Amino acid sequence: MRENCGGMMWRIVAVGGVSASIAALWKCQKQDATYCSSMQTGVEAIENSPYRASDATNLSTMPSPYLEAIAQSRKLICRSMIEQGIPGAVVCVTVDGNKVWSEGIGYADIENDVTCSSQTVMRIASISKCLTAVAVMQLWEDGLLDLDAPVQSYVPLFPYKTFDGKEVKITCRKLLCHTAGVRHYKKASDIESNKEEFHNDEYFIKEHYASVSESLKLFSNDDLLYAPGTKFYYTTHGWTLLSAVIEGVSGMPFLDYLQKFILSPLHMDGTGPEKNNPLLYNRARYYNRNSSGMLENTPYVDLSYKWAGGGLYSRASDLCKLGGALLLSYQSRADTIVPSIRTHLAKKETHVSVGAVIQGEKPFFLKPETVKFMWSQIVHDADFSTDPQLGYGLGWVVQREGALVKGGTVRPFCVGHTGAAVGASSVLVILPSQHLQHNNSQLAMDEHFVCSEGAVSVSDGLCNRQSSSPHGVVVAVLFNLQGVRGTYSLGSQIAMLFDKR
Ligand SMILES: *[C@@H]1O[C@H](CO)[C@@H](O)[C@H](O)[C@H]1NC(C)=O
Ligand SMILES: *[C@@H]1O[C@H](CO)[C@@H](O)[C@H](O)[C@H]1NC(C)=O
Ligand SMILES: *[C@@H]1O[C@H](CO)[C@@H](O)[C@H](O)[C@H]1NC(C)=O
Repeated sequence: MRENCGGMMWRIVAVGGVSASIAALWKCQKQDATYCSSMQTGVEAIENSPYRASDATNLSTMPSPYLEAIAQSRKLICRSMIEQGIPGAVVCVTVDGNKVWSEGIGYADIENDVTCSSQTVMRIASISKCLTAVAVMQLWEDGLLDLDAPVQSYVPLFPYKTFDGKEVKITCRKLLCHTAGVRHYKKASDIESNKEEFHNDEYFIKEHYASVSESLKLFSNDDLLYAPGTKFYYTTHGWTLLSAVIEGVSGMPFLDYLQKFILSPLHMDGTGPEKNNPLLYNRARYYNRNSSGMLENTPYVDLSYKWAGGGLYSRASDLCKLGGALLLSYQSRADTIVPSIRTHLAKKETHVSVGAVIQGEKPFFLKPETVKFMWSQIVHDADFSTDPQLGYGLGWVVQREGALVKGGTVRPFCVGHTGAAVGASSVLVILPSQHLQHNNSQLAMDEHFVCSEGAVSVSDGLCNRQSSSPHGVVVAVLFNLQGVRGTYSLGSQIAMLFDKR
């Protein structure tokens, strides 16, 4: 009964909008304490749900301030799952660096009746850009990389470009904020076509690219779509070029750099390149809906052509570690000493400990001004978002604080990213605590472009407080369905629920 019911539920949701189906869904839910039953009967039903993973946060042992936030957040996630027919989700929330909620909801694998647990890993797609951005900023902070130098100084095999007959300059800064004019999955010839994102063939590349320089060949000889610095144009290929820069500067393969300087120090042991052949424990299966709205397994893809911009997998709790590390760095004192990448590169040792934030060994990952800089070089452009509060920083989506939304609540300053993979959707949101806030009114978003050449620092408004743990909320949610809508808004709503406790 339970299997039937669960299976039926998803098939019914798929065709949404038909009232008979909704009635059947309702009946299904009533008969069986489905995993989203908290919407009807609250926390107790969550605890007793047969779809609840055994390692989920035990709500009866939670300190009371979070219970309400967890129940409400769960309702938000379950609503999305029911509205959009999502098989499975994993969520993790940390407050001030402590994990307060971590849970798998629904199915990791429908065919085998495997539920999601808090350990489930999924493709994180464009959230990979956040990790790559941190890598670029580490090298920049250490003086190893000039954000405004032509990328060819680091990647000699990338051709110099012209636009309208004039030579133009592609730089790391422009690549980080998607203004370099580099194409995304559409070439210049079909840029006017209104193909939906997931109808672009390059989403479904099945060939393996053995190196970053191999992947560059996919687009390196193609025309720029716009003159660099004139327009926001979201591009994942641009991030392959950034990973080539990281290789050129560090002398290491990009994935090795990522492992050594970000994943290992932060103990993100559930994160890496999403390769098909190696056994990857706790990997969810990936789903999409076909044109009749039915759930299907996604086609085979090989993500090696875009490790840096969209090829990683992660665990929700790992993304929270990254968020906590950056939050702590952001809130640390201006004179904070950060371990030097340069020294470690010179020593060529295999293991380094650059700020093991969670373990408290060396608590700082980047300098506070670097993090603030990364989150304040913002492009605010209707082609990125029509939401006047949202802009794109150096590899991060930045929400300006202050403006009012429906109902009169103030939306706070927060940063994050969403990911849209073949078969998965995700969001990471970092909400710095209001009372330890930088003076974010200085994060100018009124100007069209502040991702401007030459800007090197944001020295004003630093916290100037020493702190051994981050202050604020980090939220990560992963779904194993392609094309989930409203993930950024979901992530930031959940962050606010925990912030207000
Ligand atoms: C949750 O904790 C309570 C109190 O310690 C315990 O009685 C209960 O069995 C736990 N529930 C689960 C599902 O582990
Ligand atoms: C969609 O999937 C269902 C179930 O697998 C299948 O019966 C149907 O033919 C598919 N529709 C299309 C258009 O592929
Ligand atoms: C924040 O910065 C703005 C602009 O520089 C300034 O007017 C304001 O007084 C500052 N607020 C605080 C609390 O420091």
